[in-house]
Amino acid sequence: MPAPFVSVSLLSGDFTSLGETIARLNESVADSLHIDIIDGRFAPVFGLGYPLIQTVQSLSKKPMEFHLMVQDPRPHLSLCRDLGAQSITVHAEHVPQLYGVLADIKGLGCTAGVALSPHTSLSVIEEAIHYANRVLLVSVNPGWGGQKMLPQTERRIKQLKALIDASKLSVDIEIDGGVNLSNARQLCRVGACRLVAGAVVAKAPDPLSVLSELKNVNRGRAIR
Ligand code: DX5
Ligand code: ZN
Repeated sequence: MPAPFVSVSLLSGDFTSLGETIARLNESVADSLHIDIIDGRFAPVFGLGYPLIQTVQSLSKKPMEFHLMVQDPRPHLSLCRDLGAQSITVHAEHVPQLYGVLADIKGLGCTAGVALSPHTSLSVIEEAIHYANRVLLVSVNPGWGGQKMLPQTERRIKQLKALIDASKLSVDIEIDGGVNLSNARQLCRVGACRLVAGAVVAKAPDPLSVLSELKNVNRGRAIR
């Protein structure tokens, strides 16, 4: 199995030393930074604001993927692109014109992802997967970092992979929420190829070695 694409979520990070955190991540094996934008309505909290993301952009050498947990993603799309988004993911639950929004994201030169909250049936995206580069399954109650992964995640990955394979599509499966060194290998084994890592990195005494272990998870070095 190839190494997973590992993206670091800053939501659980220590913002008193943001510069040092980004400098450390620049030298790490992380593939990208995962930027959570939350509008206070999708979940009753706010994610990273644009001025802060601008600071991250100015310091970071890593590509950035944006996860929009907002009720109306359209006004955010070009802002995300201007802030350096390589990819933008929107929630299927909140986009009546999903096809158009995914096309807009691609038109901005970014790759396009569809996200689902854990309570949303996979049948909602049976058609949308034909237009998306990736499906992001939120595997915790959406909006907060540092939670335990919900147990239905593995079943949902298997179902989604079956859906993708049945349509002979090349769509990546990304898991966001509660990823750690104990579950990462199994997530990849059943079909995930992209992992978002928040608290597992931010709260680790040695974040760089956790990132290396996550990258090497399919080589058998990361069982805990
Ligand atoms: C949750 C966010 C995640 C979160 C992941 O709704 O979308 O990106 O920050 O953090 P961990 O890995 O700590 O669950
Ligand atoms: Zn996220």
